[in-house]
This record gives sequence, structure tokens and C-alpha cells, in this order.
Amino acid sequence: MARRKKIYEGKAKILYEGPEPGTLVQYFKDDATAFNAEKHDVIDGKGVLNNRLSEFFMTGLNNIGVPTHFIRRLNMREQLVRACEIIPLEVVVRNFAAGSMSRRLGIDEGTPLPRPIVEYYFKDDKLGDPLVTEEHIAAFGWASQQDLDDMVSLALRVNDFLSGVMMAVGIRLVDFKIEIGRVYDGDFQRLIVADEISPDSCRLWDLQTGQRLDKDVFRRDLGDLSDAYTEVARRLGVMPKNA
Ligand code: C5P
Repeated sequence: MARRKKIYEGKAKILYEGPEPGTLVQYFKDDATAFNAEKHDVIDGKGVLNNRLSEFFMTGLNNIGVPTHFIRRLNMREQLVRACEIIPLEVVVRNFAAGSMSRRLGIDEGTPLPRPIVEYYFKDDKLGDPLVTEEHIAAFGWASQQDLDDMVSLALRVNDFLSGVMMAVGIRLVDFKIEIGRVYDGDFQRLIVADEISPDSCRLWDLQTGQRLDKDVFRRDLGDLSDAYTEVARRLGVMPKNA
């Protein structure tokens, strides 16, 4: 069989040309990185778990009318996705203070925020993905005002959905990051949720114990990352059959 054409390789995923025009195959690697790849490890089975978990979240979003790039899972590590033009911003939504917000503003981790706070980070590894404002985004033409309005609306709908799904299994959604892409239907442009939604890109705390069930386990050496992700998958009923 002919080898597929690799389009892009990132820290945790590879994108290959898809079987039909306008599609891509997204492959989930076992690599875990943090602090802009200064810390790196290979966690056996992480890619399989994130493929399943991202499928679960994206399917749920598609089902409630929040458009995503997800088409279908192909196998243990790959999913078919719609190709889109990624907006070069990481969109973070926070419900509780944690991570960089706690460090930047001196707010204790776990402090509830008066309302969900949406932040934008410019996607640039060399610069360490700096926090940017809507002024920067408009001035540098990364997104239009209409895009910004649509991005906030998408991000908050994802937040409501994910918060509810996680709360139902005893997990607090502290914060998360999404990436958003543009697709064109004729002349009409639409924004869709792209990339992945998984414990790599969310902070998930056990509601009772506060136990970390996300990538902070790896970032902060809090235990076994694969055990944490398996626990999330188990609670959501998306445990891979052979894990
Ligand atoms: O590090 P920080 O507190 O800004 O992260 C906020 C949220 O965004 C966390 O859930 C983190 O996992 C996620 N994030 C991410 N990819 C990045 C930066 C942050 O998924 N490059």
C-alpha cells in the first residue's frame, strides 16, 4: 500500500492527507511534552486514550450542533477529520484559577472565577505561545471581529457542554484549550472546533478529592499519566477494549 503523505507533525499528533479531498487523517502519538517541549516522555497508550476521548467529546459536540472537524474514528490511533484553516490562536476558557493564570495574577489555584474567562494565546513555539489581546488579534489580522465573536460563542458552548459531561462523572472542568479552524462552504465561511479535546488540553480535577486527572500529572510529576487518563475514560465509559 502506498504511504500516506504527511502534512504536518506536531508534538502529540501527526496529520496525513485523507482519503477524500478536504479530509485529513489525525494520528495520536504517545509522546507527552510540557513547557514548550523542554520536558518530554513517551507514555505507552496515551495516543489510544486521547484518540478515544477526543472522539467522545467531538461526537458529543457535533450532536448538540457545535461544529467540529471530527468525522469518524478509523482505528485505535487515527481519526478522519475535516481539513480546515487553523486560526493561529489557542483559545483557553477558565472556570477556576489554575496554571499560568494563577502564576500571572497571584490567584490561588482552585479559586472559582466570577464568570468563565476566555483568553487567547498566539500559537508560536519559538515565542512560547504568548498571551494576546483582541487588539493584537485585530491589528495583526489573525481573525476578524466577526471571527472573534464566533470564537467566543463556540468556546463558551464547548465549556458548557464539557463542564456538564465532566460534572456528571464527578470531575470538575477547571480550564481547557481549543483550536478553531475555518471551513468554506462556497463563499460562506464557518468556524469549527479542530485539533483535539483530551486530558492533554484540559484541567480535570476529581470533585471530591481534587486529584489531578490531566496533563498536570506529567507536568508536575504527580504520578502515572496513563492511569489518570484511563480513569477519565473509565468514568466516561469510553475505555478502550484492550486497555
Ligand atoms: O498553562 P495554562 O494555565 O495557560 O493552560 C490553560 C489550559 O490550556 C490548560 O488546560 C492546559 O492544559 C491547556 N493548554 C494546552 N496547550 C497549551 C497551553 C495550555 O492544551 N499549549
